[in-house]
Amino acid sequence: MNKTEIINKHPEAFNLICYEDQHKNFSWETVKKELGVGGNKVNIAYEAIDKHATTWRKNKVALYWEGSDGTHLKYTFQELKILSDKCANMLQSLGVGKGDRVFLFLPRLPELFINMIAIAKLGAISGPMFSAFGPDAVRDRLQNSEAKVLITTPELKERVDAVLWELPKLERIVLVSVKEDYELEEGNVCYKTLMKDAPERFEMEWMDMEDPLYLLYTSGTTGKPKGITHVHNDMISYYITTKWSLDLRDDDIYWCTADPGWVTGTVYGMWGPWLNGVSMYIYDGRFDVNKWYEAIQSYKITVWYTAPTALRMLMKSGDYLVAQYDLESLRYICSVGEPLNPEVIKWGMNVYNLPIHDTWWQTETGSIMIANYPCIPIKPGSMGKPFPGIKAAIIDSEGNELPDGHHGILALKPGWPSMLRKVWGDEGRFNEYFNITGWYTTGDTAYKDEEGYFWFVGRADDVINTSGHRVGPFEVESALLEHRAVAEAGVIGKPDPERGEIIKAFIALKEGFKPSSELGEEIKKFIKHHLAAHAYPREIEFCENLPKTRSGKIMRRLLKAKDLGLPTGDISTLED
Ligand code: WT7
Repeated sequence: MNKTEIINKHPEAFNLICYEDQHKNFSWETVKKELGVGGNKVNIAYEAIDKHATTWRKNKVALYWEGSDGTHLKYTFQELKILSDKCANMLQSLGVGKGDRVFLFLPRLPELFINMIAIAKLGAISGPMFSAFGPDAVRDRLQNSEAKVLITTPELKERVDAVLWELPKLERIVLVSVKEDYELEEGNVCYKTLMKDAPERFEMEWMDMEDPLYLLYTSGTTGKPKGITHVHNDMISYYITTKWSLDLRDDDIYWCTADPGWVTGTVYGMWGPWLNGVSMYIYDGRFDVNKWYEAIQSYKITVWYTAPTALRMLMKSGDYLVAQYDLESLRYICSVGEPLNPEVIKWGMNVYNLPIHDTWWQTETGSIMIANYPCIPIKPGSMGKPFPGIKAAIIDSEGNELPDGHHGILALKPGWPSMLRKVWGDEGRFNEYFNITGWYTTGDTAYKDEEGYFWFVGRADDVINTSGHRVGPFEVESALLEHRAVAEAGVIGKPDPERGEIIKAFIALKEGFKPSSELGEEIKKFIKHHLAAHAYPREIEFCENLPKTRSGKIMRRLLKAKDLGLPTGDISTLED
């Protein structure tokens, strides 16, 4: 749709969607006023839930929920207010208070959202974890954050039982189950039973803008995942980016397909839409082409935020499927997480009769930074232009801005409301983001064209992006080394038409072990169970030994170059 067509369809959006106007009159202060957070003390849970329960939105559905077993539930803003108040009382009775870390290891159940709101009301810090994680990933996060309480299901708890003894700071486990009053181990409590008796009124904790709200762990090149820390002040960015980049309005039914264990699911699958008082739909099930189209059809989804991998899979499943569903309700589609191929946009135009708007951001940026907005012509293959109030640039290693068309480091001027505030317990790794004076560096390389659009080139580090999931090679290598047969491991991302990249591991075996496809499969399974289902190497290559620098670091760059048949570049530091 071009600008005129959009404006014809949504005349009320004229001012909101005009990119030039957005820029000219933009200030974060104005956004703050629009959201109505004037004073010093705030709570995002109030702005996203309780506030709406005092207005005409009180009986508006905040959450349409569908389980994989076909259960359909819905919750109004008023209902979510009451349930999260009860839940906050319940967590308080377990000793949770301001600043405590409460981690969630749950499927996308309504309870996941209720608990997240409740944790914010208590002034505590939530740590949502993806339900595909294995025990190692859960242990690393709970250890680093020194979490006091874990909220999970009996089934998922079983998966992590083996590492619980390594978590001395963990005091309680809250079990969410359909059952009530089942047999509990010491320190475990039943969510359902406690909720029944919890009082309905809760006086929420009023927070400073800079008080922490949640921790999301993300990968870098080296070391364990980093606890990216976000604060209540983030809401300024969430509110306005949701409204302007996802083009959300009061009459929308919005679906973000991401899990809250990833930042997209936390920010745009919960806080952002609710800050705007929008109804959202959640499907707690695995990706399934028919199910997804059925969901759009039966819930009349209007705005859809998803990922290139999912779109590529839908594309692969064939256009005839699309024709079997009524997807007329859709009016706006956005994508995030990986480069969005122009072919996918073209296909979307054909089958949905809508363009797909790419958006670029990171766990660390907390909100959309660059996007193909509703009102600017989409340039297929580009990430779009910077959001109002965001200064993005392509710089060299000294911090100089490079001319248009030159590849360089994608950097942002620090200071937007949702920028990460710290890396939990690791000031050094926080400072690495600001190594180039005056800039926040993203780890991505990109270029800018003469019209101000940004184009993604690649990662400047070894971080792997598989199906939009960020995976650090170091984590996979560490997990591989825990396997009894593995002596050395080097892990790279290998280009893949569907998943963007897949994880490939080069493995040198210990004395006494011989390469075989059975052993390969065993190792894959091992990583799937220990680390995470999405982070296992789909490809394994056994080798005698791995290329290392003289200081003993595995040269992933060399492994990758060899694998892809590219020039090996500078190998002066290679050990003989
Ligand atoms: C990295 C951030 C916050 C969104 C989910 C991922 C890559 C993200 C795009 C895009 C090309 C993209 C970048 C970025 N990425 N969006 N539109 N085009 N690449 O968040 O896990 O923190 O990963 O994902 O490499 O740095 P994340």
